[in-house]
Amino acid sequence: MPAPRSVLAQMELYRPGGPQGALTRRSFVHLASNENPLGPSPRAVEALVQAAGGVHRYPEMFQTPLREALGATWGLPPEQLVVGNGVDQLIKLLAEAFLDPGQEAVFPAPSFSAYRQAALLVGGTPRAVALTDDRLDLVAMLRAVTERTRLVFICNPNNPTGTAVTAEPLRSFLRDLPGHALAVLDEAYAEYVEDPAFLSGLTLLREGRQLVTLRTFSKIYGLAGLRIGWAAGPEGVAQALMKVREPFSVNRLAEVAAVAALGDAEHLERSRRLVAEGRAQLMAGLQALGYRPVPSQANFILVDVGEDSAQTALRLREQGILVRDGGPFGLTRQLRITVGTREENAALLVALGEVRTHEPVPTA
Ligand SMILES: Cc1ncc(COP(=O)(O)O)c(C=O)c1O
Repeated sequence: MPAPRSVLAQMELYRPGGPQGALTRRSFVHLASNENPLGPSPRAVEALVQAAGGVHRYPEMFQTPLREALGATWGLPPEQLVVGNGVDQLIKLLAEAFLDPGQEAVFPAPSFSAYRQAALLVGGTPRAVALTDDRLDLVAMLRAVTERTRLVFICNPNNPTGTAVTAEPLRSFLRDLPGHALAVLDEAYAEYVEDPAFLSGLTLLREGRQLVTLRTFSKIYGLAGLRIGWAAGPEGVAQALMKVREPFSVNRLAEVAAVAALGDAEHLERSRRLVAEGRAQLMAGLQALGYRPVPSQANFILVDVGEDSAQTALRLREQGILVRDGGPFGLTRQLRITVGTREENAALLVALGEVRTHEPVPTA
């Protein structure tokens, strides 16, 4: 067997939050992977059943029906939209299309691991910029941009902190970003944001800005198992991504389900409300336990539990509750807890109170 490429030594195998293999036979409360606890839209399920008999045919090569539906929903021409096998694939395609070996990708840390992985995979240089007070530091990120920078990832809201960048600093950052660096706004959790000062890259694109916005069907749309997401950007960027993408990487079922889910405003609203209410419930419950959770604009909450959070997560797992420990993010005392249903959130709060070995000292 040949030796793997040397860069693989710098890469981590992705550690999924959910149970794998035989473990899936046990039923868990899933608060580890930021999925939609309500499940998929019934309309998407119906569309999947209808389409199942057609899977002997290759998928639609360019996902034209979905791109047209997305274009109509978001006020952007389909020529500016690309569909991928999850945002994960789109991040990799961006690196393949825009990073030559030795060129740099700037991204926040801690944040979603795919930015670093994608840069490394194409021989690029990852430049991680530390958060300040759990928030993206756009001033420091701009300072990290050099003449070799080609991509700058802005995770908004950020995973795992749940904090969101607001309009004014974002506009200022984009104004000052040199033209040779492409800003990529990863908005996997944008639908959950309630802060009126949030500004989506989709709005900026409609204003004619040169940037890329990533959105996914894995979170609020409840289609994580199908792997489908999309990118919006200038037409030239969209064409470049289409070129590097494997021809049929988005499967037929994912596309039809996404079109149906996009049209189900009621499911979307129910999902949004569930998270808004559950987020408030979890924040209050965690504070009542003496913690200081990070105020979140996403469907998860980061909390410092003051002890080895991998151990806390293990003990919660024994109680049948899956949460994400902060280890992979370098946050060894933090848990990232996905907002679940009212009952799931309540069960988590009770279990956490029982399994913890460290009780925070009241601060006030
Ligand atoms: C910030 C962020 N971007 C992208 C993704 C992945 O999205 P997808 O399921 O579409 O690959 C995640 C998943 O957890 C995420 O947290």
